[in-house]
Amino acid sequence: MTAGINAPGRARISVRSLRTDRWWLPPLVTNLGLATFVIYATVRSFMGEWYWVNDYHYLTPFYSPCISESCVPGSSHFGEWIGELPGWIPMGFLALPFLLGFRLTCYYYRKAYYRSVWQSPTACAVAEPHAKYSGETKFPLILQNLHRYFFYVAGLVALINTYDAIVAFHSPDGGFGFGLGNVVLVVNVVMLWAYTLSCHSCRHIAGGRLKHFSAHPVRYKLWTFISKLNVRHMQLAWVTLGTLMLTDLYVMLVASGAISDLRFV
Ligand code: FES
Repeated sequence: MTAGINAPGRARISVRSLRTDRWWLPPLVTNLGLATFVIYATVRSFMGEWYWVNDYHYLTPFYSPCISESCVPGSSHFGEWIGELPGWIPMGFLALPFLLGFRLTCYYYRKAYYRSVWQSPTACAVAEPHAKYSGETKFPLILQNLHRYFFYVAGLVALINTYDAIVAFHSPDGGFGFGLGNVVLVVNVVMLWAYTLSCHSCRHIAGGRLKHFSAHPVRYKLWTFISKLNVRHMQLAWVTLGTLMLTDLYVMLVASGAISDLRFV
């Protein structure tokens, strides 16, 4: 190889890095965290059961919106647009590809999986295994530029999740009800909004390409608010992976009868 660390003029060092600290630990933890979510979300998305609690109207975000005749009665908040689905198509098929696209093209997740999965590079002063680097200027990585469009759809899905959380204030006798499941669903939705609004594309849409903030006070306020969230984008990216899994797990446990929902009203 004559490129990368083997390019002419580069120092000849036989080991991958001269670093003596545990530089491999952050990428390892990142890989474990991402793998946990991917495996959990895949298994649950294809499971096809325990996603709806009819007594309390809890719907897991992994199956929302549920728009086919395969959905159990009550779980289709926006109607059944299509017939029965074969088992190999997840019932949340409408939103899942866009949410996957949104996270895959997210600026933070890009950093995380470029370093940890693709090892390009794994860490500062650690040689990467790839000979060439073409950045995001060629196929397929040029598709990362679709992020802002995924952001628009993710905003719509967050609205749908918000609606799901509101209609879940339901009691078995048909009136208002409130239980631990509502707390779980609402916390998840608040975190999803925080993650979605802290998006770099969202910040640019709010305040980008302006010459004078003083001439656009509303956009400036929005940009200021989003900028404060934006510095927490990495944390929110991880927190939302956790809240999504916990919300789904809670709905699954209640729906399957493994636990009872703790009711306050
Ligand atoms: Fe992460 Fe947009 S940059 S969601």
